[in-house]
Amino acid sequence: MSASSPELLKADAEGIARAVAILGAGGLVAVPTETVYGLAADATDGRAVARIFAAKGRPAFNPLIVHVPDLAAAREIAEMTGPAEALAEAFWPGALTLVLPLRAGSGIAPLVSAGLPTVALRVPAHPVMQAVLRGLGRPVAAPSANLSGRISATTAGHVADGLGGAVDAILDAGPCAVGVESTILAPGPSGTRLLREGGLPREAVEAVAGPLTADLTPGRIEAPGQMERHYAPGVPLILGGPARKDEVSVGFGPGAADLTLSATGDLTEAAARLFSVLHDADALARARGARAIRVAEVPETGLGRAINDRLRRAAVPES
Ligand code: TXA
Ligand code: MG
Repeated sequence: MSASSPELLKADAEGIARAVAILGAGGLVAVPTETVYGLAADATDGRAVARIFAAKGRPAFNPLIVHVPDLAAAREIAEMTGPAEALAEAFWPGALTLVLPLRAGSGIAPLVSAGLPTVALRVPAHPVMQAVLRGLGRPVAAPSANLSGRISATTAGHVADGLGGAVDAILDAGPCAVGVESTILAPGPSGTRLLREGGLPREAVEAVAGPLTADLTPGRIEAPGQMERHYAPGVPLILGGPARKDEVSVGFGPGAADLTLSATGDLTEAAARLFSVLHDADALARARGARAIRVAEVPETGLGRAINDRLRRAAVPES
């Protein structure tokens, strides 16, 4: 299957059936989840999975998240070690990904986990993604539906702009409710490591799993959140400080700015709007010939940790 311009599918029974048929035939479909849009392929089909890496321009060492409809399906693929069961019971379906030992004979294409003995598993809550997973009856590999290193997609329009020609279809279910990627944890016998801050706040996780060991050491790339530059717009991004005339400003809370993450200072709204606002700021900066985008930092609590994490990485200069 090759795509010059993608099929645009509505998130109704017909569109979902078409998405399932394309995935079943080894195609790539951009699918909605409650966090961000995913670039999906059948996780048991190595050739289809290889097309994901090609479409994203993604380094082959960076493994993909496997999406399943429920905990029972997860147990068939991975060993639920340490507090994994408790975390899954508490937060699945939802914005949580667990990195767990891969079971022999799981059928997952080796390319998905990039040769690691572990696999990242997630049970998404979005009803359309749930319908796709149940319709296909196979696990789905899906990284965020953006070019490698660039801003994640939270609308079908973002996907079309970033990946258009490389995907067979886009299943459009409107904007994503959470807006930042899932929180990634590696639960193990000696505690739970935090691999990426995300849509499930750390405070909620620690209430179930106890204190987390932050494992965000730069240079040890276990999750993409650990790559230095990521989520970046095309125009340089600066975090914090007063905006200059030749910059596009993005605010948080009261105060004048070109765009805002949340006028009322609400972190849930800011997360949901984050990537859309960055896409819009990028377009505005190009239109005006602005030298940079200056974004306000948000409070370092709850979803604010994931938002600041994405902004700091987007602000890393291109090397
Ligand atoms: O919300 C999300 O997590 C979205 C939606 C589509 O589910 N997906 C997403 O995928 O953000 P992606 O590929 O952009 O980030 C997932 C990251 C991988 O890049 C990888 O670094 C990490 O999860 N990962 C996957 N498998 C892993 C493994 N076996 N060990 C450690 N990290 C892993
Ligand atoms: Mg990503």
